[in-house]
Amino acid sequence: MTRLPPRARKALLTLHLVTALGWLGADLVLLTLGVAGLRGADPAAVYPAAALVGTWLFAPLSVAVWLVGVASSLLTPWGLLRYRWVLVKLLLTTVMTGLVLFLLTPKLRLLGELAGAASAHDMVDLVVAPSVSSALLVVATVLSTYKPWGRLRRSGGR
Ligand code: HEM
Repeated sequence: MTRLPPRARKALLTLHLVTALGWLGADLVLLTLGVAGLRGADPAAVYPAAALVGTWLFAPLSVAVWLVGVASSLLTPWGLLRYRWVLVKLLLTTVMTGLVLFLLTPKLRLLGELAGAASAHDMVDLVVAPSVSSALLVVATVLSTYKPWGRLRRSGGR
């Protein structure tokens, strides 16, 4: 497995943390907007703002997190399929990225266009989706720091 020199590894880890935790931050912004919408804030302000955050922050960050996460695994002794905590994060991030790109972002853009005409169901969705995904990102963060469950198989590296 490729090993990076310590300085490059630190730079990659910094990029990983900035993108991953920036992703969680953008998710919390969406949750804040969703709650504001449900509590009666002007839909013509809330939903176009949520569409912007989704399109220009949340969706691009999800791709960046996936790419930098995979690079952080392949370029360090952790590997991609060696440790359970890494594999679970990979699966979680892959599913979330798919949902963000193909379900949430189109929905947010539609809501942004509808604004005042958003249904109660859509308004609740904009609270439930970021609540679930923020919780999953906190789980990913805890997995990253505690690194539980050991190795998947014995061969290779660390
Ligand atoms: C494709 C998905 C992901 C993969 C494959 C992945 C993989 C990794 C790897 C291998 C490391 C160790 C890097 C090193 O030691 O240089 C790491 C660190 C870390 N990751 Fe991820 N990651 C992914 C997504 C995420 C997400 C979504 C979050 C949180 C929102 C996250 C949070 C962290 C944190 C906090 C660390 C630092 C842990 C420490 O240094 O003790 N990662 N990740």
